[in-house]
Amino acid sequence: MEKVNFAEKLGLFDDRWAPKIVAQMNDVHFKLAKVEGSFVWHEHGDTDEVFIVVDGTLCIEFEDQTVTLETGEMLVVPKGTRHRPYAEATCSILLVEPTGVVNTGDGGHDEQEVVDGRREARTAANDMWI
Ligand code: NI
Repeated sequence: MEKVNFAEKLGLFDDRWAPKIVAQMNDVHFKLAKVEGSFVWHEHGDTDEVFIVVDGTLCIEFEDQTVTLETGEMLVVPKGTRHRPYAEATCSILLVEPTGVVNTGDGGHDEQEVVDGRREARTAANDMWI
């Protein structure tokens, strides 16, 4: 049993859209991630998804609205809801999701975004502990 300090863990990595597991409760993982720019449109057919903003501003685009989350705010995205997270500046978030969830959901393992003129895969390993 060891406490988790978010700031300390966030200091250990700098890659974007690559969630790192910091704790597990039953079959649920708590993952810290730094995000910046746009993610891909996707949905998770078999699980809800929780976004908790630790530091910064995160926008989550839905087909009918965009929700803006500030530091200290959270949102539960119901399963099967198409969404696309994006952040104009670096934002640190905590995700809470069942073990084994793929971050791009049905977005496909080949889904890529253009980042600084190059194509970058968005699907991250789902078993990275820090
Ligand atoms: Ni998602």
